[in-house]
Amino acid sequence: MSTNITSQNLEKIIPEAEDFLPLLGTDYVELYVGNAKQAAYYYQTAWGFQPIAYAGLETGLKDRVSYVLRQDKITLVLTSPLQPDGEINEHINAHGDGVKVVALWVDDATKSYEETTKRGAESYMKPTTQEDKDGKVVFSGIHTYGETVHVFVERKDYNGVFLPGYMPWNKPYKTASTGLKYIDHMVGNVGWNEMNKWCEFYAKVMGFAQLVSFDDKDISTEYTALMSKVMSNGNGRIKFPINEPAEGRKKSQIEEYIDFYNGAGVQHMALATDNIIETVTALQNRGVEFLTVPASYYETVLDRVGEIDEDLEPLKELGILIDRDDEGYLLQIFTKPILDRPTMFFEIIQRKGAQSFGKGNFKALFEAIEREQEQRGTL
Ligand code: FE2
Repeated sequence: MSTNITSQNLEKIIPEAEDFLPLLGTDYVELYVGNAKQAAYYYQTAWGFQPIAYAGLETGLKDRVSYVLRQDKITLVLTSPLQPDGEINEHINAHGDGVKVVALWVDDATKSYEETTKRGAESYMKPTTQEDKDGKVVFSGIHTYGETVHVFVERKDYNGVFLPGYMPWNKPYKTASTGLKYIDHMVGNVGWNEMNKWCEFYAKVMGFAQLVSFDDKDISTEYTALMSKVMSNGNGRIKFPINEPAEGRKKSQIEEYIDFYNGAGVQHMALATDNIIETVTALQNRGVEFLTVPASYYETVLDRVGEIDEDLEPLKELGILIDRDDEGYLLQIFTKPILDRPTMFFEIIQRKGAQSFGKGNFKALFEAIEREQEQRGTL
């Protein structure tokens, strides 16, 4: 690990004057998917997201449909095309279902655009105002890795259910929450030797600082390897780890992702909970599939991480992993890919002081991923 900067002392590292891009949080994450109606049902039924808003033919759109779902501070937008041509179709054709927009909540979308494009960001959307009876929202956007974009959302003058143009989606079918609270971090996979380029992008263009880095000695098994650096904004609310493949005897899981996604893209979203045992129990009961580690992991884990508040037995039954750093410990678990292509997955994380990302679990975890790759014939 080359540096070990915690979010607590980040503000000392990025002087306030340099935080030219104050981010209030993640506004929403938009996925382009083949069948938004059914994907919405999956996120409701399996994950406990609630129906919030809708846009489509009924709201005057001709070419697309979007469903907005929310659980606490996590807002997902699922968008599908209604016509045979266009950028959504091309995106789905190239990548399968995947994250197109990581939208960031800002006070000033025009300034966010000016500050980032001035520092070299490629424009995706010039500052644009949209209005309806509930007020106005200013948007702007820049490109990041692959075909992924960041949209800046300024919504201080808006009181509607989501964004202008959306109608409330009053679906009578509601499911119980699974206790997911907010997006802890979102990880991007980029191509060979591109990690530093994209970390520099987040540093230079968006004013982020590097929290930690892992090299192939940290993150390698007998067969495969990857490299990773974690970039964070000034207030620590937005954390974007960036992974690249590294040389191993067999194919890196990052390379498998790049092959199937056809380029760089979002690999996983880590969703935070206050009670990982309850959350993962609920998700498993609703059919969400997780990676498992061998039972032997639990024979020695407490020697590594020391005392924890939870009983080990339910953690072992559910396959939840444990890691510790200087500030505390964390509990985490990873789903299998949630799509047909082995691309995107979710992490569930409960932090008990720790601000790190589970380095101590990487080996056990990657061996679990390799067992899956082996079955897919992509190792
Ligand atoms: Fe993660």
